[in-house]
Parts: sequence; structure tokens; C-alpha cells
Amino acid sequence: MCGIVGYIGFRSAKDVILRSLKRLEYRGYDSAGVAIVNDGLNVEKKKGYIDSLKVDFDGTLGIGHTRWATHGVPDDKNAHPFLDCGGNIAIVHNGIIENYISLKEELVKKGHKFISDTDSEVVAHLIEEYYRGDFKDAFFRAISRLKGSFAIAAVHRSERKIMAVKHESPLVIGLGDHENFLASDIPAFLEYTKRVIVLKDGEICELTDDFVHVYDFEGNPVSKEVQHIKWSIEDAEKSGYEHFMLKEIFEQPRAVDDTLHALFSRNDLNLDFDRITIVACGTSYHAGLVGKYVIEELLRVPVEVYYASEYRYRPRVVDNALTILITQSGETADTIAAARRDKSSGNITLAITNVVGSSITNYVDKVLYTNAGPEIGVAATKTFTAQLVTLYYFAIESARHRGIISSTTYENLMSSLRKVPHNIENMLVMATQIMKEAEKIRKSKNMFFIGRGLNYPIALEGALKMKEISYIHAEGYPAGELKHGPLALIENNVPVVALIPPDRTYEKILSNVKEVSARDAYVIGISSKDEVSRYVDTLIKVPEGDPFFSPFVNVVVLQLLAYYTAKFLGREIDKPRNLAKSVTVE
Ligand code: AGP
Repeated sequence: MCGIVGYIGFRSAKDVILRSLKRLEYRGYDSAGVAIVNDGLNVEKKKGYIDSLKVDFDGTLGIGHTRWATHGVPDDKNAHPFLDCGGNIAIVHNGIIENYISLKEELVKKGHKFISDTDSEVVAHLIEEYYRGDFKDAFFRAISRLKGSFAIAAVHRSERKIMAVKHESPLVIGLGDHENFLASDIPAFLEYTKRVIVLKDGEICELTDDFVHVYDFEGNPVSKEVQHIKWSIEDAEKSGYEHFMLKEIFEQPRAVDDTLHALFSRNDLNLDFDRITIVACGTSYHAGLVGKYVIEELLRVPVEVYYASEYRYRPRVVDNALTILITQSGETADTIAAARRDKSSGNITLAITNVVGSSITNYVDKVLYTNAGPEIGVAATKTFTAQLVTLYYFAIESARHRGIISSTTYENLMSSLRKVPHNIENMLVMATQIMKEAEKIRKSKNMFFIGRGLNYPIALEGALKMKEISYIHAEGYPAGELKHGPLALIENNVPVVALIPPDRTYEKILSNVKEVSARDAYVIGISSKDEVSRYVDTLIKVPEGDPFFSPFVNVVVLQLLAYYTAKFLGREIDKPRNLAKSVTVE
């Protein structure tokens, strides 16, 4: 998704903007650009990476952008910032201006000349149209005409300020001394300041060297809380790891532990509901599927799990339901739309997200934060295990509140949950063996991941990780379903990764393993039981423990398998092609 940055102060705006843009690279982009105000207004923008920008001007006020194309192909002319006709105003935009066609027609009739195919360019021309010597006033008037989702930052060559707006796209402000920052995400300016204002939808912001004023769309001042960020820029850097994804895989013991500790202090999880709907996308959806198994097992309450992009267009059929929205970024457009719909129709809504103050938190009744720390790699890893631990905790606590489980069962479950970080640590030492397996499978064209019960969603997640970063076609299947179609694709040496915990599905999945072995598949078994080695080509042995918690260690194996396979193939692991970290468009 697009990334926005802005700076006003005493430092080199060029340095701050380029460094900040680099820290937003994880969002995915196909072009980049910078506008700096000095004696004039200078712009450099290009298709390609930030490093290819040739910024031979500087100043102490400017804005920057990384673009992830939605309207118009990725090329130089469609890159941001955009200028008005007079070359006095520059804007950067993240989101979609839904009414840009009618606005553009109106502006063209008035003589404005457009150079790009984007929706964003109208914003520069609209501000120009309303400008009568007061940039702030023109900005307010222009914004009042926009429909859609937008985070916008704008500068004018003759006024020393940045005007910005947030509406359904992320925007945060960093406060400094005689300098201020804005960005789509906190890591962009964290090396300069830890004092942050999180803007809400419908807020407009005026930044000068010495103050930041926030207003609603009518121009009324809004008082904002200043948050102090506890994590450091090192948390958002690679710290010697070759890729963010690998670092984030190895951070999972800490991420799970921190998440658990934050949950221990919550005493507001005794919610009233007859059934649960979980709504999410991608990896978060897989966490939701594991949550379904865990909640149904412990609470005996029906749980339905939906892709947000499907759910938001379904008729509402369930009342007195709790809707749980899972989104690591808190910015996924479809998940937010589902939250808004269910909240307005009376369901209790609970968001599980990793980003403090992210958009989804504005649209739900309750928020459970995962404390995974910033996740930069596009492939979700530590946020997934942090989501899982949150769902387990929620289920165990709710079962206790409802008197469904005995205090002994409760203690045993909590004790197993507390051991999860340690078990993941024990798993991570197996990285070298997993790397060897990755080397064997790296030339495969197709792969299968199979599991049952709790580990069926983990098979789905393993397949998603594999295809997302290695580009090998991979499918996750409930192991019992193979014989209903996919078995036709099993032939000599097709890798099948089988999750085989010693639970009630153990014997069944061994039968499924025999089915694929008989057709010469190359079977990698993941299990805590040594005897599994008799049925598979390779056993990756995970630590023994309550199989109810096996998803945690199993998924770590699959994350590492995908990581090393992608590494052998020389893929861009942290920024896979066509993908973005937060998907703020439908
Ligand atoms: C995960 O590896 C993917 N990059 C993707 O599926 C992601 O989980 C999905 O886009 C949902 O994102 P969210 O959790 O931020 O809502």
C-alpha cells in the first residue's frame, strides 16, 4: 500500500524524507517521489525503488510518497507527489478518491490540465481551485469535496506548513522540538521522536515547525492525546538477520510472551454471546479458523469464520453474536467494513490487532492488542502466533467465566499456554534441518500441506506462506479430503507436508499419509512421535506437549520451510511481488 511521509523543522528534509520512506518500504510499492519547499517547490518522482530517485535539491520542509498502483499503471507520471497547474501545491495521497472522475471533469472544464491517470491528482487541482491566499482554508474546502478513503499531505510553496487529513487510511503525527513529522506508520519517524499523535478518521491536521493543530472537518479544534511509543527503532530493524521475516520468526517466543502478559492484566473479557462470527483476511483468517476449533472445543458455542471480503456483502442472519475481527495491521479495508456493519447492527464487536490506534480500533466495542512489536515483512509470522495466543486465552478465560471447565482443567490449559514461548524456542533450534528440507523441495512446481482439526488451518497457513514468498504453487487441504479430488495430482516426488500431532486424528492422518506415499509423494512429516518416521520420507520432530497447542510449533516449522525455500530461490522475501503489508483497498 502507499506510504506517506512529511517533515517540517530544521533538518535536511531530503534526508528525513528518504530515510522515512525507506522505513515504509515494507508496505510494498512500485514508484516513489519527494517534494521539497525551499525558494521554490521541487519534485522528483520515478517508477521503481527509492534508491533510484535523484534528489538534487534540499530544504527543511517536504513530503514524500511510495506508491502501490491502484488507478493508472506504475510509471513516472503516475508517481506522487502531484502538482497543481501553477506548480505551487504538491500533494501525496494514500487510498482511493471514489468521486475523482466527476471532480476531474469539473476541474477540466475550468481549465485545469491533468498529466496522470490517477485518482489522486484531482486533490492538487482542487486545492488550487479554492486557493485565495490561504492554504489552510483551501485545503479544508478541497477535502470537503472528496469521497472515498484518503490520507493526504499537502504543501504550498509560499506557506511554511503541511496540511494533512486522515479518512479511512492511516496517518500518524510525530512530535519533535521545533520540528514535526507525519507518516502512514510510526516506524517512519521513530528514530527522531517517540511522541506520537494517532489521527482518527475525519481529522485534519496543520503542522508547522512549532505546533500541530488537529481539527474536525468543520474546522473545530480537536484535542488529542500524545502517546509515548515504548518500542525502539531497533525493533523495526533487521538486527543482523538477513530478512525481516527471519527476524520476526525468531522473535515469536517474545511476541507470544508479551502478548500473554498483556492479556493477563485484562479483566473485561466476560462477554455475553450465544454464538461467534470471526471475520478476517489471509493469515488472520487462518488464525480465526484455529480460533473456531479452540472456542468450539472449550466453549461449545458455534463459531463461523468468514473472509471479510465475502462477509461484508452477506445478508445479516445472526443476532446476539459476538463478531471478532482479526487484523494485524488494523487497516484492512474489508475487515474494517465488516466491523462497521456489525457494530451498527447491534453485534458486540471485538478487534484483535497489533497496531495501537489503527483504524479498526475506531469501529469496534473492544480491542485486544497483540503485543508482537512491529512486523515489517509482508508475510505475517509473529503477528499470527500472537493472534493465536490471544484466541486461546480468550477461549480459556471465557470457558472459566461460564463455568464450563473445572479449575483443574483451567490451570492445566493456562500452564500449557504459558509454555508456548518455550516450545517455540525449542522448535527454532531445528532451523538447520528445516533448511535442508527446503533445499530438497525448492525445485518443486506444486506442493501440498495437509492437516486435520486444529492443524487444518495450519496447513492452509503453511501453503499460503509457501506460495506468498517462494511463488511455488501450494495447496492446504484437510487430510481426509485428498481422496475427493486432489489425490489425482499426487505423483512422483510431489512434496506433501503432513501435520501429525498425537491427538484424536493421529491414526486417521497416518492413513492419509499412506495414501500419498503409495503414489510416490515426498512426505515431510511434522510430529512429536518418533514412530512417524516409519511412514514419512523425513520427520521433523517437534517438542512433545499437549497436542491442543500443537499449532504454535507446527506453524513455526512451516514458516521456516517457506522462508528457506524462498531464500534458495532468491526471492524478494520481505517484499513479495504484487503484495503489500496492509491492504487498505477493497
Ligand atoms: C500474510 O502473510 C499476508 N501478507 C496476508 O494474507 C495478510 O494476512 C492479510 O492481508 C490480512 O492482513 P491483516 O491481518 O493486516 O488484516
